[in-house]
Amino acid sequence: MRKIKLSIIGAGAVGSNVAFLTFLYHLVPELVLVDIKGSLAKGLALDLEDGRFFLNSNTVVKGADKIKEISGSDIVVFTAGISRRPGMSREDLLSTNAKIAKEVALKVKKLAPASIVIVVTNPLDIITYVFCKYTGFKRERIIGMGLGLDASRLSNLIFHKIGISPADVSPWILGMHGKEMLVAKFTNIKGMSMGKFIDSESWRKLKELTVNRGAEVVKFLRCGSARFAPALGVKQILEAIVFDKRSFVLASIMLQGEYGIRNVCLGVPVLISRRGVDKILEVELDKEEKYLLKRAASYLSSCTKSL
Ligand code: LAC
Repeated sequence: MRKIKLSIIGAGAVGSNVAFLTFLYHLVPELVLVDIKGSLAKGLALDLEDGRFFLNSNTVVKGADKIKEISGSDIVVFTAGISRRPGMSREDLLSTNAKIAKEVALKVKKLAPASIVIVVTNPLDIITYVFCKYTGFKRERIIGMGLGLDASRLSNLIFHKIGISPADVSPWILGMHGKEMLVAKFTNIKGMSMGKFIDSESWRKLKELTVNRGAEVVKFLRCGSARFAPALGVKQILEAIVFDKRSFVLASIMLQGEYGIRNVCLGVPVLISRRGVDKILEVELDKEEKYLLKRAASYLSSCTKSL
């Protein structure tokens, strides 16, 4: 089998942690880290490679400040752009990050035309849309990482509140990686409804904490936003691609009629294989949930009109 080349664009907190996890878990033989900030990516690549002995790793890591180094990549992870400061919403990043994303998407189209792109930059669903539009890639090859992170956050909160292992929790979150995210009613523990484990007021609070968790981290960090859990969210998708796992993850994808929504990138359960998204799962939602999902979609649609 041909060797997989993975490029990470943006060597900030998330990008460098994705690189670390990629190296740590021997996910690919060739890793490229690109950042426009001078020699930053070079320094990180050297540092990472210097861990070779400890991991008995053959992964080759290259750092660069020029995007041309992504040429021929099989997978591209896009993390470049500005991150939130305390008090900012993800949408406050829109104009700056959409401009960067558009430029990079056009380069990816040219330099890595067969790649699968994992988008991490916020506002996530909108930047995923920008990549779909400006690469012109089939939607199966543009995957936004956001809701998997939200689901992991919810399972962490459940673990702390009721002491049940994340392995036994099925946290179902759909929609936007932002205020409009929807924690679906069929979120369950080993098939049993949450009502068996938690009263409705505590459950409401956990959901609220989940929605606001990213902002909470930003508030404490003061400078920058979450990095470790987002990087693990990317690793989940990377593993599913690299090992052709055919497993479901929650991720943003361009909807073309699923859930009655069209031409909007929104988080839903998707089956990931070596080809990218293999299947979109349409789960049963009640009337209220359908309404909330459509409301998020029309909001996102209004944001992407001018992009
Ligand atoms: C967060 C950012 C990564 O949720 O969107 O922390």
